[in-house]
Amino acid sequence: MAGQITLVINGGRVTATAGQTLLDAGLAGGRLIPHDCASGQCDTCRVRIHSGAVDDAGTRIGDTVLACRARLTSETVIEFDEVPDCVRRSGTVDSVVALTPEIVEVTVALRKRLAYLPGQYVRVAFAGLPPRDYSPSLRADGSGELNELIFQIRRQAGGTVSPLLGGQIGPGTAVKVEGPFGHAFHRLGRGRLVVVASGVGWAPAWAVARASRLREPERDLVVIAGARHPHNLYMRPSLDWLRARGATVILTCSGNNPPDDARPGRPTLHLPMLNASDTVVTAGSPEMVAAVQFLAAAAGATCYADPFYAAARTAAAGDAPDMNFFQRFLQRVSGNQKSKTERLA
Ligand code: FES
Repeated sequence: MAGQITLVINGGRVTATAGQTLLDAGLAGGRLIPHDCASGQCDTCRVRIHSGAVDDAGTRIGDTVLACRARLTSETVIEFDEVPDCVRRSGTVDSVVALTPEIVEVTVALRKRLAYLPGQYVRVAFAGLPPRDYSPSLRADGSGELNELIFQIRRQAGGTVSPLLGGQIGPGTAVKVEGPFGHAFHRLGRGRLVVVASGVGWAPAWAVARASRLREPERDLVVIAGARHPHNLYMRPSLDWLRARGATVILTCSGNNPPDDARPGRPTLHLPMLNASDTVVTAGSPEMVAAVQFLAAAAGATCYADPFYAAARTAAAGDAPDMNFFQRFLQRVSGNQKSKTERLA
């Protein structure tokens, strides 16, 4: 039939129509491409173009495009990393522990395990409150049970949810969880892995860096993590664990009076020279993440980004009033405006 073309998804062949998005073509053919927002916002649906040509709708980064935006123009072969299915789970808050004056560690006990890849995020609704996106991590010593989700969350002044952690939200609070989502997860690889995090971006970064040490101990690993305020440098014990296992570790502090063991300035100031064989995973403040993406793109490195946006500042899909130069640049080159919604507050 005129206009019909073949799309191959991870080796599976479907018949599609020219002009369909890759995501719609896959769904129509019974091949689910992992996705979340379906509107070009979250980056969950990013796929590799193995061969063929598509209208990338401005979402191309290297050989990847967003499947929910890119449209078929000819026979195309695409690939994506298999991820756990998105599921819903329920559970209760087990504990809320202060890590710093602003950051708490929240442990949620699930009735049934939720499988995710290190670095992915989930959508969490504490009883009676709007959902927020958080990245499951590990405790500072690397511990965590299979049916637990451990979050590191900044209590955001003026927020709707996070200021209640440790008060209205405490042991026994009912929780609903959906996920996993996100593409900034650990992947095995041969080139150097560079992990860059600021603030509670350390939650997914720690999960990724630890997974790399355990699964590929011979791989070069550089970890740069920091915070603005010295009292928020809660990642020290985890960095010690990584350093003891051969990772190059840099602690940074961008605020006044950085402690002796931290380099002054933002993590981006201390990035090593990147090259095309590097894989970069970055999480934390949108400005820092955008700067890392910019530098990685300039070097031709593969970059997986997880910017944290505060819910109070999150605008409707398509709006991004807080975008800086780097973010506007990245929007133009990749169409990737934000990775998730309602992240912090
Ligand atoms: S599903 Fe495509 S960017 Fe969110």
